[in-house]
Amino acid sequence: MSSASESPSSASAIDWDALRSVATAAMGKAYAPYSKYPVGAAAIATDGRIVSGCNIENASYGVTLCAECSLVTDLIMGGGGRLVAFTCVDGNGNVLMPCGRCRQLLFEHSDAGMLLETVSGIRTIDQVLPDAFGPRQLDEYKADSE
Ligand code: THU
Repeated sequence: MSSASESPSSASAIDWDALRSVATAAMGKAYAPYSKYPVGAAAIATDGRIVSGCNIENASYGVTLCAECSLVTDLIMGGGGRLVAFTCVDGNGNVLMPCGRCRQLLFEHSDAGMLLETVSGIRTIDQVLPDAFGPRQLDEYKADSE
């Protein structure tokens, strides 16, 4: 697929169909023997790299990794950067809303104004996780304590 060579500035600059295809391919690799609910996620990083992930379940259910977790692993292991556009699909290839925990996970690695394809259309990370807690709060606390 063609990928952005720099941070896309608008939703129309992103080939969402192609990104969803990558997420659907990742979904095909899911290890979900317990829920039988495979999930795939794909994103574009600031350098245009495409990263992806699938859910990886565990017999100790709470240890399950969401697709977003392996996507972030792919981002970091591939050289880091930030996420500029993200999509996620279920086993039928339909767009899936990242769970609350994963919105926090994505926020940590998001570029400013990161776009997500959601069940309500294209949204920014700030729209899906308003007033987020993040690294800035830790920095501000540290500065106030000094
Ligand atoms: N799941 C994800 O991979 N991402 C989400 O954002 C929502 C839920 C997975 C976890 C579990 O393997 C399955 O979906 C059912 O909850």
